[in-house]
Amino acid sequence: MPAEPAHAAGRGAGRREGGPLVNVGESARQVTGCRVCGGSDWQDVVSFGPVPLANGFLPPAESYEDEPYYPLGVISCRSCRLMSVTHVVDPEVLYRSYSYVTSDSETMTRHMGRVAETCCKRGGLAAGDLVVELGSNTGQQLAEFRRAGMRVLGVDPARNLAEVASERGIPTLPEFFSAESAGTVRAEHGPARLILGRHVFAHIDDLAGVLAGARALLGPGGIFAIEVPYAVDLLEQAAFDTIYHEHLSYFLVRTLATLFERHGLCALDVERFPVHGGSILVFAGRSEDGLTPGPAVADLISLEERAGLFDDAAYRDFARHTDRVRRELPVLVRRLVAEGKRVAGYGASAKGTTILNICGLGPAEVEFCIDTTVLKQDKVLPGTHIPVHSPDHVEVRPPDYFLLLAWNYATEIFQKEAGFLASGGRFIVPFPTPTVVSAESLG
Ligand code: TMP
Ligand code: ZN
Repeated sequence: MPAEPAHAAGRGAGRREGGPLVNVGESARQVTGCRVCGGSDWQDVVSFGPVPLANGFLPPAESYEDEPYYPLGVISCRSCRLMSVTHVVDPEVLYRSYSYVTSDSETMTRHMGRVAETCCKRGGLAAGDLVVELGSNTGQQLAEFRRAGMRVLGVDPARNLAEVASERGIPTLPEFFSAESAGTVRAEHGPARLILGRHVFAHIDDLAGVLAGARALLGPGGIFAIEVPYAVDLLEQAAFDTIYHEHLSYFLVRTLATLFERHGLCALDVERFPVHGGSILVFAGRSEDGLTPGPAVADLISLEERAGLFDDAAYRDFARHTDRVRRELPVLVRRLVAEGKRVAGYGASAKGTTILNICGLGPAEVEFCIDTTVLKQDKVLPGTHIPVHSPDHVEVRPPDYFLLLAWNYATEIFQKEAGFLASGGRFIVPFPTPTVVSAESLG
């Protein structure tokens, strides 16, 4: 154990002024009690020091002196085994204007179709039923339900994205989902048959408020479905770049089942998906509806127990694996650069900005980064200030290596970049350990 616990190391929010972290007031708070069980016996897992916000893209500037940095680390609750970040940044700072737009990649479009299908089947949804999505972003997922004839409503605090969604015909309330906003929705639209939250539940600090809202809005027999990164996959692959300030919680199924139970809900079913490095779609119903849970919940809880995830040792292994990748990746990239190779980033994902900052890789190693998201182009990455360009940028003079920052789309990207690979281009894949991939190695 370090002398000073990781969760006591920071002083709230900070920005660098010639190095040290200084307090910038009320925009972050240190986690003390567990947001699932209220416990306070934390195991320190990893501590990355001050890190900028993963989606805090900046316009190119002469100086970045005021860029905010916040302490980033993970702790694990010894009572319920929730993994939590050490510091919570004010959601008003993170989400009111948001640069993360749900990917319209083939992988994600296919996945959203599957999610809609599974939810309709599990929830027995019919045309005309109300589907509410929290963190609905630009409305891509809800469009799938609308196609199937359901009434849809998005709830998302990002005003810029709620406007885009509404313009494409997905009505969206530009608010955080809470007991209050859920009450407004129920009064205006009636009870929901399905409340869905894809990759948003892990971003929420006030889980009690959101679950109270969900319970109040669900009609009898209604389903609450959430998709979150699965802590089992995170621990197995040590994909530590999925740890950033937006991701407050890393859940096991057992932890979620405990949480639901405390709030009058019951975990009914769970399905694993490979998206975002390994995720689970968990279905819950109101306890009083007496819906029958499928076997998958107990099966995954037993897998978690067999993997030792309720003991400290598993988290120490994860920290060791993380340290290894953190050491090896910069060594590999710097060796290539020293050999005269040009390296660029592929995908300015939030994970990408996180790994670059944590590994201390900047423009001296990674010349630029390409990304298809227009909102990110012509900006610079948080902290490292590596410029982000449209993929057209590499048409004339491709780099020798792409550091695959959007590794969760590896299969799709390798297919799309078959020409780059065929002409001798290579990818550096960071996880589970840093590896170079070429046309030959892919077969
Ligand atoms: P995500 O994993 O958070 O969805 O982020 C992936 C990022 O990678 C996102 O900014 C879009 C970008 N991207 C590309 O630039 N090209 C691609 O082919 C794919 C699949 C993603
Ligand atoms: Zn706990």
